[in-house]
Amino acid sequence: MTLQTAPINRKELFLRACRGEVLPRVPVWIMRQAGRYLPEYREIRAKHAFLEVCKTPQLAVEVSIQPFRRLGVDAVIVFSDILIPAEAMGLQLELGDAGPVVPNPVRSKTDVDRLKIFDPEKDTGFLPEAIRRIVKSVGPEVPVLGFAGAPWTLACYMVEGKTNEGFATVKSFLYREPKIFRGLLHRIVQATIPYLKAQILAGATAVQLFDTWCGELNLQDYEDFALPAVQEIIAGLGGAVPVIYYTKASQHLLPAVARSGANVLSVDWRVGLAEIRKTLGPQIALQGNVDPAVLFAPPEKIREAALAAINSLHGHGHILNLGHGILQHTPVDNAQLFVETAQRALLQHATTAAQVR
Ligand code: CP3
Repeated sequence: MTLQTAPINRKELFLRACRGEVLPRVPVWIMRQAGRYLPEYREIRAKHAFLEVCKTPQLAVEVSIQPFRRLGVDAVIVFSDILIPAEAMGLQLELGDAGPVVPNPVRSKTDVDRLKIFDPEKDTGFLPEAIRRIVKSVGPEVPVLGFAGAPWTLACYMVEGKTNEGFATVKSFLYREPKIFRGLLHRIVQATIPYLKAQILAGATAVQLFDTWCGELNLQDYEDFALPAVQEIIAGLGGAVPVIYYTKASQHLLPAVARSGANVLSVDWRVGLAEIRKTLGPQIALQGNVDPAVLFAPPEKIREAALAAINSLHGHGHILNLGHGILQHTPVDNAQLFVETAQRALLQHATTAAQVR
């Protein structure tokens, strides 16, 4: 059977993918697509510190749109960082070359009690403002994504205080003081719901929760601590927009992850998409999952990896992406090839590719 559909725009394509529908082509974007592999990003960063870019809407908008302009990706993610709410909750935040540092990490009940539930428009108003301006600039036919860190992953940074040298400090907090640690997760949940709602109100088409470090937990601890916090956030958003839940190295957690309430599960390259679909069923859409290191390979290999991911789900509830953020020294041409491969790929059920405006 041939599907002769009228052209649809990128936003509709993206929303259809989130709903698990059969697609005329697979939408594609890249985690960390605004970043140091782009010369125009480096140019801005040469003049402005990372946090200054995050907090100055004009600059945040510019770098958010750079990958859309350069690569023609199918979604624009607002430029920010998962640690912005940690700062708004009262922690100090330094984002230097060695990764984020929190000089006053959370280690006790007093530290948890001190964390503020902030007002997202008043205290982090630069973020919804950047979203409003991005939406205005790219127009109503391009999806704009908001995001936040998932509570466990954010807690890792808030407790460890620096990019992890293992997770001994945060895990010993969890094991020694489970009640206080749950209190910390709960605080993060209470701060994150209004923070995401403000992004949705500003015009975000969908939001993504980043749970980069959930794979560090065993199934029981994931189910006891990390999962309920994610479920609470997703339930708190009340289905206003689709939620994408990114988890890394989570193959031992997948059936639990699927109970998060997210519409889309974003996964890494450690498990095949077809296998995950078989385990979780067609209700949950999938995003991913090419290894970012593949973008250092010759063009044929990049094309092959992108097509392998696409063909494993046959354009059914799939958003093509990498399995983690794009790496700093990735050649821009290779990122471009990755995007173009998805946009030109002929799906078995569609006669003509790319009927997307
Ligand atoms: O996807 C996008 O383009 C939007 C922007 C975005 C950034 N960070 C910008 C950034 C997003 C969605 C994030 C999420 C984020 N931040 C995560 C979750 C996803 C992941 O990658 O695991 C995490 C764990 C962080 C925390 C963080 N911020 C780390 C560990 C680092 C240092 C590592 C690095 O790549 O430098 C950052 C800094 C950061 N956040 C940069 C960018 C572009 C690099 C800063 C620079 O320009 O010097």
